Amino acid sequence: MITKAIIPAAGLGTRVLPASKAVPKEMLPIVDKPAIQYIVEEAVDAGITDILIITNRGKGVIEDHFDHSFELEHLLETRGGKDDVLSELKSVAKMANIYFIRQKEAKGLGHAVLCARSFVKDEPFAVMYGDDVIINEQDPVVGQVIRAYEKHKKCAVGIKEVTPEQIVKYSSMKVQNIEDNVYLIDDMIEKPPLDKIFSLYSILGRCVLTPDIFDILEKIPNGAGGELQLTDAMAHLARTDGMVGVDFNGTRYDMGNKFGILKANIEVGLNHPDVKDELREFIKKIASEI
Ligand code: UTP
Repeated sequence: MITKAIIPAAGLGTRVLPASKAVPKEMLPIVDKPAIQYIVEEAVDAGITDILIITNRGKGVIEDHFDHSFELEHLLETRGGKDDVLSELKSVAKMANIYFIRQKEAKGLGHAVLCARSFVKDEPFAVMYGDDVIINEQDPVVGQVIRAYEKHKKCAVGIKEVTPEQIVKYSSMKVQNIEDNVYLIDDMIEKPPLDKIFSLYSILGRCVLTPDIFDILEKIPNGAGGELQLTDAMAHLARTDGMVGVDFNGTRYDMGNKFGILKANIEVGLNHPDVKDELREFIKKIASEI
């Protein structure tokens, strides 16, 4: 059983500046909750009990968000009338055992994952990218990847087909279908030119890894951008032990880019009881004008 997850959230978020200058991109809202809260909720719904969030110097508000806010809670209690908001606020602070560690320099996702070594110890663990919100209320996507890990006894990653324009910026997987939406991955290439891709399948947002990944990360050199890349370590793993890829069921929003943030707010808003009717009318009105 997998009970630990890490959420790397120490990136610089340069693609969404200036929004991410003082507010971490992981704290940007989708309707009424910060992105990272959706990710923590997904983890909890999949049975994860212990979550390590990897932050950096500018991201203390993430810690505040998952703590009690005594003044606010006290004020709402004494004023009364907002019991639903009050209980939601209190529940955020109790969702899971949440730990924090700082990645002291933004040296890449692989380096961020290495910061989790002493938290993980010798258990398999999930990695949930802090700017990838993936919604499936019935069957949390990290749970889908955990099931594939448990069934096939190999490190497992969430995969999706992306466009040719995207694949050259992501990684391309060599896949072989083994059942329904599950594939064996025995090679991959990072940021390939179009004539070198294996497939349009790329790793997106969720992985289940074993602590072996730490030894690989310690051995490999820095990759793209001079940073220690988690995908380089995974490529090593794919070629030696093989990995499984799950073409997951869920809607992914990349909160690390501007259009992803807009899409998330519109689609989640269209399902949110407080705003859906108003938003639907608003969208119809502007759609008829553009
Ligand atoms: P990104 O690849 O989106 O990197 O990270 P970034 O630096 O945040 O974004 P840009 O390119 O400057 O806009 C994917 C995830 O890995 C985390 C990020 O916070 C994000 O959740 N990350 C990335 C780290 O924790 N540490 C790093 O050094 C890099």
